[in-house]
Amino acid sequence: MRYRRTSLRLPDELPVNPLFARQGERRVPRYSLGTDEMLPETAYQLIHDEILLDGNARQNLATFVTTWMEREAEQLYAEAADKNIVDKDEYPLTAAIEDRCVHIIANLWHAPDSHAALGTSTVGSSEACMLSGLALKRRWQRARAAQGKPADRPNIVFSSAVQVVWEKFANYWEVEPRYVPVTAERPCLTPEGVLEVVDENTIGVVAVLGITYTGAYEPVADIAAALDDLHQRTGLDVPVHVDAASGGFVAPFLHPTLRWDFRLNRVHSINASGHKYGLVYPGVGWAVWRTKEFVPEELVFKVAYLGGQESTFNLNFSRPGAQVLLQYYNFLRLGRRGFTRVQQATHDVAETIAHGLAGMRAFEVMWPGVDLPVVCWRLADGHTGNWDLYDLSNRLRARGWMVPAYPLPKNREDVVVMRIVVRNGLSGDLAHLLLDDVADGVKFLDRLRERMPAEGRTTSSFHH
Ligand SMILES: Cc1ncc(COP(=O)(O)O)c(C=O)c1O
Repeated sequence: MRYRRTSLRLPDELPVNPLFARQGERRVPRYSLGTDEMLPETAYQLIHDEILLDGNARQNLATFVTTWMEREAEQLYAEAADKNIVDKDEYPLTAAIEDRCVHIIANLWHAPDSHAALGTSTVGSSEACMLSGLALKRRWQRARAAQGKPADRPNIVFSSAVQVVWEKFANYWEVEPRYVPVTAERPCLTPEGVLEVVDENTIGVVAVLGITYTGAYEPVADIAAALDDLHQRTGLDVPVHVDAASGGFVAPFLHPTLRWDFRLNRVHSINASGHKYGLVYPGVGWAVWRTKEFVPEELVFKVAYLGGQESTFNLNFSRPGAQVLLQYYNFLRLGRRGFTRVQQATHDVAETIAHGLAGMRAFEVMWPGVDLPVVCWRLADGHTGNWDLYDLSNRLRARGWMVPAYPLPKNREDVVVMRIVVRNGLSGDLAHLLLDDVADGVKFLDRLRERMPAEGRTTSSFHH
């Protein structure tokens, strides 16, 4: 469903000329179904040409989502594009590979027994977050019912820098969102902030491993310890879900001693996006629960599988199976060592970018990519009143780079930052070219004698 149609004012007919002058292929309606057929190569070429004007995905430094995979992965993708993951009876090997991936991920996240863990692939982290939140809500409702207490006012706790999916979860599933505000001194969720707002109606606390705005990890272990202490002191037992959309495939390789996962007993469930640092093209996420007791039985549905029954816990029925195979391809292809090398190389590129930006007088680097390989910076105080980071974002766009400028969340919205998400595929060489373009952009803007006119300025639309 789209509420906003393209702003392009285009004629109602889509001209096929001059490239395609075959009989009957001169014009087709743009907004209604054409009467006649079209040759496949014509249809292909038209769409191929039109999307040339989309941004170049490799230069999209706004997204966390994978924009490059190896040729063998692409071949596998094309071969498996017809597989529907829900047809477990028809594609039992794809189903078995999904299951293997869940075990591999549960093991990576230190589930006490990866065979006892329960998990599923999803369309992305958003679906995984919805499922995890739903499991927390149902468990809380059951516990309240068992105690004979009312269960009509559930709340969920996270920081105000949380990704929008949690706001959606709270809205769609009618759970009160309790935001712990981020401040300059407290830029993410803290144990103290959590303790200020949790109560007997809290279904869970969501800690984010890799805040979307900044790439910083929230202190999961400290939050879990504070909740352990609260449990001991008061009997209030509040679980933690870790939204590791990005960090779930970074921390195990680059920060292996950091305790954020199932090593902490209070962590009931974790989600991650396979299509972010799991290095798979868009369309796959993962949700894993410590053991099956953390997913209330009534949420699990049975589908036919090998003449038997397979359990599923998903929002969608049909969805692509190919991405799951691509995830497994990455697991086989890279192993622990390969994943570590890829993520380390990505971190090194982030460091190069942070270092380059820190050397420019115009900027103050705020987050240099220590946790996720994400670099975030602001305009140095007093540098200029003639331009801002939105203007620089527009200059970079002219060179093909998509680097968003946006305000920090509520309470800090006066601070506008720019952010680069470094991903596999942004080489050190490209990073140097990007830094050159940033330096050129700054040089151009610094030559302005007066403020950039308002008409020439657009603010980038940033989806967090
Ligand atoms: C922390 C966090 N959670 C959830 C999501 C949603 O993930 P997806 O885009 O895979 O649905 C994102 C996306 O950026 C994110 O950064």
